[in-house]
Amino acid sequence: MKAIQIKENIFWVGVRDPKLEVFDIVIPTKHGTTYNSYLVIGSEKKALIEANKMIFADEYVKTIEEICPIKDIDYIILNHNEPDHSGALPKILEINPNIEVIYSKTGKNFVQNIVNKEFNGRAVGDADTIDLGGKTLRFFHTPFLHWPDTMFTYLVEDEILFPCDFLGAHYCPETGIFNDEIKEKKDTQEAFKFYYNAIMRPYKEHILTAFKKIENITIKMVCPSHGPILRENIDFYINFYKEQANRYYQNNHNRQITVVYATAYGNTKLLAEQIKKGAEETGIIVKMFDAAETNASTIIDEIEISHGLLMGTATINAKAPKPIFNIFAQLVVLNVSNRKAGAFGSYGWSGEGVKMCEDILKTMRMKLPLESLKVQMTPSEEELKKAYDWGREFALKVLEGN
Ligand code: FEO
Repeated sequence: MKAIQIKENIFWVGVRDPKLEVFDIVIPTKHGTTYNSYLVIGSEKKALIEANKMIFADEYVKTIEEICPIKDIDYIILNHNEPDHSGALPKILEINPNIEVIYSKTGKNFVQNIVNKEFNGRAVGDADTIDLGGKTLRFFHTPFLHWPDTMFTYLVEDEILFPCDFLGAHYCPETGIFNDEIKEKKDTQEAFKFYYNAIMRPYKEHILTAFKKIENITIKMVCPSHGPILRENIDFYINFYKEQANRYYQNNHNRQITVVYATAYGNTKLLAEQIKKGAEETGIIVKMFDAAETNASTIIDEIEISHGLLMGTATINAKAPKPIFNIFAQLVVLNVSNRKAGAFGSYGWSGEGVKMCEDILKTMRMKLPLESLKVQMTPSEEELKKAYDWGREFALKVLEGN
């Protein structure tokens, strides 16, 4: 028996994947993961919440059928349609073509392109509910957590929230499925925080909007799509999300710039120091880091709460060096679009590194109010003064706001 009863007539019917080492190409999963699905049985109707990954379709079906035949299920609720929660949908529809597929308005397109043929489906929104008979499913459209299609399902009578990836973690318990059954609390909480940082962190405004939307419901249990079901210390997890999502807004009474540089012979560093001094003359807060010598997560934490970003780079073999690309790669966990940015650097004979930074900043939809600052070899007194003025001018643009 793999299915687990989590409350009367509510079952976990998910799949454990303890050996998974990397999720979505880039996310290490040292504790594996679970793909959680839930079966809710009312007096009149039955609903599945979340499908599963295609490669686990057979195991998923078998687990569900420990409780009831797939052909007896009336609805499948897809809170989110990334393939780890939708890949097994065609298998479910093959067994039960009459099942009604429920998704958000923005989820419809994804579902159509997963099924690729006619099916019985319906989009739901904030005002919609489905009565299973003594068990009412209520829907909250909560887009961009972390895809445009995401929604929450709330089981009214049992006060259970099914938020899919939101409040989830890549953590596969050896046995059991509730957070209070796991002895390694520190590991589960770290996995939870890591998951937030890897998946949810760019969506701070959507996180806060979602919490506002559900502020009047009581939540006695959180049933996410990955990792432990939360029934103990739920506030700890919710508050962590709120605190993290608020970091940028809480820094809004200040204005901050982060300067990141990589320097081969100290010349780009000389420019960075002058830029910092010039910017600070305006009263703005400036945090400055050598990308080659600082832990990337420290830099990302500061960029997250900054209103401007300046990237300074040397040029090596016609390119920006790896520490700079590393910071750009790590920016995948933030949304910095519309924030102000700029590129600068000293170069030997060609100087493509600065242009690369400029292009990447623009591609990330940041706003570059100044022309990039490039200096060949050792900056002269005049060029250092130019860097000082460039930093000051950039800071003034940041202080103007968007
Ligand atoms: Fe677990 Fe966004 O999928």
